[in-house]
Amino acid sequence: MTHSVTLIEGDGIGPEVVEAARRIIDATGLPIHWDVCEAGAKVFKQGLATGVPPETIESIKQTKVVLKGPLETPVGYGEKSANVTLRALFETYANTRPVRQIPGIQTPFSGRSIDFVIVRENIEDLYAGIEYLQTPSVAEALKLITRKGSEKIIRFAFELARAEGRHKVHCATKANILKLTEGLFKKTFEDISKEYPDIEAHHIIIDNCAHQLVVRPEDFDVIVTTNLHGDIISDLGSGLVGGLGVAPAANIGDEVAIFEAVHGSAPDIAGKNMVNPTALLFSSVLMLRHLKEFETAERIEQSLLYTLGVQKAFLKDLDKNSTLTTTAFTDLVIQNLGKKTDFWPIRPYKPLRLPLVQNPSEDVPRKEVGFDLYIESSLSSEKLGKSLGTIALPSPFELKMISNRGVQVYPAIGGIRPDTVDHWRARFFLKDKNTTITDKDIFDLTAQIALHHQWMHLEKLNEFNHAPAFTKAQGEE
Ligand code: NAI
Repeated sequence: MTHSVTLIEGDGIGPEVVEAARRIIDATGLPIHWDVCEAGAKVFKQGLATGVPPETIESIKQTKVVLKGPLETPVGYGEKSANVTLRALFETYANTRPVRQIPGIQTPFSGRSIDFVIVRENIEDLYAGIEYLQTPSVAEALKLITRKGSEKIIRFAFELARAEGRHKVHCATKANILKLTEGLFKKTFEDISKEYPDIEAHHIIIDNCAHQLVVRPEDFDVIVTTNLHGDIISDLGSGLVGGLGVAPAANIGDEVAIFEAVHGSAPDIAGKNMVNPTALLFSSVLMLRHLKEFETAERIEQSLLYTLGVQKAFLKDLDKNSTLTTTAFTDLVIQNLGKKTDFWPIRPYKPLRLPLVQNPSEDVPRKEVGFDLYIESSLSSEKLGKSLGTIALPSPFELKMISNRGVQVYPAIGGIRPDTVDHWRARFFLKDKNTTITDKDIFDLTAQIALHHQWMHLEKLNEFNHAPAFTKAQGEE
């Protein structure tokens, strides 16, 4: 069967690494139809703000598999990164980055048998990019974590463990501080892990995870985490095993999968025939496994390992005295197809089962118990508190507290006066918990406050399943 793959050369060193990958895959004899498409700098320069033309989108819709070089985000042309556009457009929610020690490549961690995969949620979290300047000098970003998004990536991580014959999944979060967002991810992990009794499940706080990745990287097998943490620890992971020149990545969604290297377009070495194509070659191996071409994937992987580990054929990024060119390295990998190494155990790879996750039922008992109003003011906490308390007197609400940057400042706790900025959160609770709030009650009080103060944001306070659906401020009773 001939596979169709959308091939995007990309920018900078992109054409060189993509050419290497294409030559090696073609040399295996595997029939692949490469649909060569454009995205990135050239497209931005033509005036298309997304950096991804409709022909490319159409091709990906047909082939569902992309092998791509890095895309530059030129300053002064498009506003959004073409990479982010591609990942978001095709909902490639699972960013997987294998971190495996390559024999022959000396690092401070050599000989430690490092072999794990980082599974990073690729859509949600702060990367939803929902940001506001709430006052001219206070910026806010929404960290969105959903049950559905968490369940998809967590199931994916367990399925990946099964497909690769791995035995352990760590879920890395900051749930100790971010109890609702990261807490939802952790809770989802605890729920879903029960369905995978054959896999060990552990939770680890992300900062400790970063520490353990340096101290005992060999203890990890699969790490699943939210978007921002994943972004950071996956670069840490590349650093453990030899750097950007050898770090592959796959972005996998329900329909489409995009395979690329972790590195960027490296304009400093572009066009010099000296770039290390290993990262994209390992990404190509991931792509071939995705296409269920396990034998060809293994042939290329073994040849690459032979070239690096036995022949010690290094490019300049791994040996600064090297004169080896990208083309000569590619020729060597082609010549070595069929050779095997004994230092990289071959995993029992099986097809990955992508999880099917429905939206959870929202049918839970809920009650509105108050609201938070965000106010811009240059008053002191004391003056603002007294004013808001007085305005609320005739309403069904009472001022519970005011916080500034998350810390309760009114009523002041223990006489301490924290440093404050002009951005305040006033928390109003129902005076009588047994009454029911209408939106009109909230709007009426907000309108009264707006006669005296500038407000910019309102957040309802709910109880779901009789439990508060909001956190307390630091110091709030
Ligand atoms: P970069 O990864 O392109 O380069 C960082 C350093 O690593 C450079 O010194 C470069 O020469 C070296 N390097 C990278 N890959 C190498 C390889 N395969 N062999 C040998 N040396 C290699 O990161 P930088 O400079 O921050 O980004 C350049 C451009 O790439 C930017 O426009 C950025 O937006 C874009 N980018 C695109 C990505 C993608 O398409 N997935 C990912 C990261 C950056």
